[in-house]
Amino acid sequence: MSQLWPSYNPLPVSFVRGEGAWLFDKDDNRYLDAAGGIAVNALGYSHPALVQALVSQAQLLWHTSNMYHIDHAEALASRLCELTGMAQVFFGNSGAEANEAALKLSRLFARTKGIAEPKIIVMERAFHGRTLATLSASGNPKIQQGFEPLVDSFIRVPYNDVTAVANAIQANPDVVGIWVEPIQGESGVRIPAPGYLSALRKLANQHQLLLMLDEVQTGMGRTGQLFAYQHEHILPDILTTAKALAGGVPIGACLIQGKALDLIHPGMHGSTFGGNPLATHAGLAMLTTLVNENLIADAGKKGAALLADLKTAFSDLSAIVDIRGMGLMIGIELDRPCRDLMRLALKHGLLINVTADKVIRLLPPFIINEIESQLIVNRLSVVIREWLTAQAEVSTSA
Ligand SMILES: Cc1ncc(COP(=O)(O)O)c(C=O)c1O
Repeated sequence: MSQLWPSYNPLPVSFVRGEGAWLFDKDDNRYLDAAGGIAVNALGYSHPALVQALVSQAQLLWHTSNMYHIDHAEALASRLCELTGMAQVFFGNSGAEANEAALKLSRLFARTKGIAEPKIIVMERAFHGRTLATLSASGNPKIQQGFEPLVDSFIRVPYNDVTAVANAIQANPDVVGIWVEPIQGESGVRIPAPGYLSALRKLANQHQLLLMLDEVQTGMGRTGQLFAYQHEHILPDILTTAKALAGGVPIGACLIQGKALDLIHPGMHGSTFGGNPLATHAGLAMLTTLVNENLIADAGKKGAALLADLKTAFSDLSAIVDIRGMGLMIGIELDRPCRDLMRLALKHGLLINVTADKVIRLLPPFIINEIESQLIVNRLSVVIREWLTAQAEVSTSA
């Protein structure tokens, strides 16, 4: 009997080591990982650059405190700013914590405008985390139920609908920001029309609002650019990221520029572990490897190839209603709930994720090779066909 909180429902497997795109259980069975720790393990497992950074740092020092300068945090912040056009970084330990920092900044920004009860425009089906404020901002009643009263600072509009945002701004003088995921990950890899982010940037400029981007999942190269907003050549005021930032060592970052600068002063925000030498050294190793090994462009190319192969392999399956993706963030939407596929895929040595009940989400590491990519397609094809056949048999015998 587990004495962990029963907040998860884990599959019947436990891994003891990993190598490249593969995980191994205690009997040395191997599993091809197309879920990538839910967008965390972008360099796969045991990547030498990360191992070297972690081992060398652990031998020297892994935690001091924010009472002192932390050179690796300075260096990671500087590299992130150089690669994004942002100006300053706050480090925490998770996506939700980075998002909380973003929300706190939006409150300070409201004060500069004399707004006492500020509102942020957020999107239907958004996911921003599990803290009280971030779950309130999320557009999924399942993660909110039982935790009311919610934080009452959000106005919700449909995703991928610029007019809805413009109307909400007109109707609410207390709006101070627009908060959006460039691609909605948890709600099923939902990709907005090209130009959506640029249009939101324009609206934010017109109305002196903060454009706040949640790139906790899309960030660190997954879509084929370091950050997804870079496909549209805009700059947000606030940008959050986490997941792949240190390849699996807990870290989150809130990057700011423009209107979001000069709001924070010493003592106003903090985090005990945030930016510690171990996590930020790992983050630097991650960023250096992504850039030096050309893995960001690779994620774009490998993702496009995988998407095309999946479309070909499943073209005859009417139960699949859509296959979509950008880089190595791919969603395969079925016409029915399909969470059982995760368990069946496990039996076939493949790790996948199912989100929003009906969407198989693939987030493989950027280091997968062509053979592994083909293996994902082949194994998934076997799994889905076996499952659909079993479902058809059940419905005929019923
Ligand atoms: C877009 C987005 N924001 C925030 C979060 C929350 O991140 P964390 O679980 O690290 O708090 C997630 C996690 O899936 C996410 O996908």
